[in-house]
Amino acid sequence: MTTITTIAYLLSSILFILGLKDLSSPKSARRGNLLAMVGMLMAIVVTLLDKEILHFSFIVIGLIIGSAIGVIIAKKVEMTAMPQIVALFNGLGGGASAFVALAEYFRSNGVLEKSTTVSVVISLFIGALAFAGSLVAFGKLQGFFKSIPVVFKMQKSLNLLLFASFITLSVLVVIYPANSTGLLAILAVALLLGILSVLPIGGADMPVVISLLNSCSGLAAAATGFILSNNVLIICGALVGASGMILTRIMCRAMNRSLSRVIFGAVGGSVVGDVQKEEERKVIRYTEEDAVMVLESAESIIIIPGYGLAVAQAQFVLHELVKTLIDKGDKKIRYAIHPVAGRMPGHMNVLLADANVPYDLLFDLGDINDDLQNTDVALVVGANDVINPAARGDKQSPLYGMPILNADKARSVIVCKRSLSPGFSGVDNELFYEPKTMMIFGDAKDSISKMVKMLTS
Ligand code: TAP
Repeated sequence: MTTITTIAYLLSSILFILGLKDLSSPKSARRGNLLAMVGMLMAIVVTLLDKEILHFSFIVIGLIIGSAIGVIIAKKVEMTAMPQIVALFNGLGGGASAFVALAEYFRSNGVLEKSTTVSVVISLFIGALAFAGSLVAFGKLQGFFKSIPVVFKMQKSLNLLLFASFITLSVLVVIYPANSTGLLAILAVALLLGILSVLPIGGADMPVVISLLNSCSGLAAAATGFILSNNVLIICGALVGASGMILTRIMCRAMNRSLSRVIFGAVGGSVVGDVQKEEERKVIRYTEEDAVMVLESAESIIIIPGYGLAVAQAQFVLHELVKTLIDKGDKKIRYAIHPVAGRMPGHMNVLLADANVPYDLLFDLGDINDDLQNTDVALVVGANDVINPAARGDKQSPLYGMPILNADKARSVIVCKRSLSPGFSGVDNELFYEPKTMMIFGDAKDSISKMVKMLTS
C-alpha cells in the first residue's frame, strides 16, 4: 500500500467520522451525508487504482447496474417502506462480506495465516447471519409473510445448538484450514441461525432488530477488512458496527424494552386489550371547523406527529397549516418529536425536513415535554402510542415505562386519525375518551387540508 493510499484512507475515515457526527442533528444531516459520500468515493477510487486491476469491465458493469437499481429504489420507495429497504440494504452488505471471505479463502486454497483464517470465519458467519436475518425482516415488513412472532418448541435450544456447532466448526477450520467442508458448514449454520433468530421477532420490534443486523453487517465488513488488509474497510466497518449498536440501545431505551426481551421475547404484532369493547365507549366526534376555532384562539400549539402522518403524507399540508396560523396571529407553534414516532429512527425529522419545516421548530421529547402542561393545544397528527398515558400510569400495559409526550397535560388536545384503532403496540388509548380531547376522524391529509382551506377562505 503506497503512502498516498494510506493518506487517502485516513482522509476518508476522517470524513466518515465527521459525517456521522453531523448526522446526529437534523440541521447538519445533509452536510453529514455529503461528507460521508465524498469519503466513500475517495476510498473506492483509491482502492480501484491501488489494486492494479487489469480489467475494469466487470466493475463498471456492476457499478452501472447497482447505481441504476439504487436510483430507482430511492425514487420509488414510499417513506413508510423505508425500514424494509434499510433491512434489504443491510442484508446485502452482510452478504457481500460473506462472499468476499469465501472468495479469499478459495483463491488461496485455504492456505492462509491463522489470523486471516479467523477473520474469514468471523466475516462469513456474521455476514451470512446478517444477510439471512435481514431478508426475513424485509419479508415480514413488506408483508411477504406474517409479521407476527413465529415461535415453535425448542426454538431457543435449537439456536443454542447451532451456535455451539458454529464454535466447534470454527475451531476445526482454524486447525485444518485446507478442509473447505467445515467452512461451507459454517455458512449453512449462519444462514439457518439468521432465519431462526428473526422469525420469532414481532412487527413492533423489527426496526430494533434491523438496527442490530446493521451493526452485524458493519462488524462483518470490519472482519473482511482484516482479510484484505484494508484499513478503511476496518475503520468503516467498526464505525457501522458501533453506531448500529448505539442506535439499537437508543431505540430499546425509547421503547422501554431490553435487547434480550426484543430478541427472545416474541412480543408484538398482536392486539393487546379488548379494542372492540373500547370502541363501544362514547367518543364525541368533532369537525375540522371545531378544530379551526380552537386553533385560531390558541396562543401556544405543540404539534405531535406520528406514523399516521407518514401514511397520509400530510407533512406538506401540515406545514401549510402552521404557516397560515402564524400569519394570522401571534402564536407560538412548535413540533414535538418522540424518538420512536413512526417506524424508524428519525422518521419524523426526515418527513418534516422534506416539507421544509424549519429545524428550529423541531424539539426532542426531553426538551419540550415539560412545556406541554402550559400549552393551549396539543395537535396530534397520526400519533398514538407515543402519547398513550397508559405508558405512564398503567403497570399492566405493555407500553408501561416507555417515555411519552405528555399531550394529555395540554389544556386541550386535537387528534387527527381515521378511527379509534390502536397504534403499533395494539394498546387502546385512554386519551381519546377524555373530555378535553377533540377527535377529528379521517385521513390526516384530508382533515388538515380542510382546516387550511377554512383558515384561508
Ligand atoms: P402508532 O402508535 O403506530 O399510531 C399511528 C396511528 O396513525 C394509528 O393509530 C392510525 O390510526 C393512525 N393513522 C394511520 N394512517 C393514518 C392516516 N392516513 N391518517 C391519519 N391517521 C392515520 O404511531 P406512533 O405514535 O408514531 O408510535 C410509533 C410506534 O411504532 C410505537 O409503538 C413505537 O414503539 C413503534 N416503533 C417505532 C420505531 C421507531 S424507531 N420509530 C421502532 C420500532 C417500533 P387509524 O388507523 O385510526 O387512522
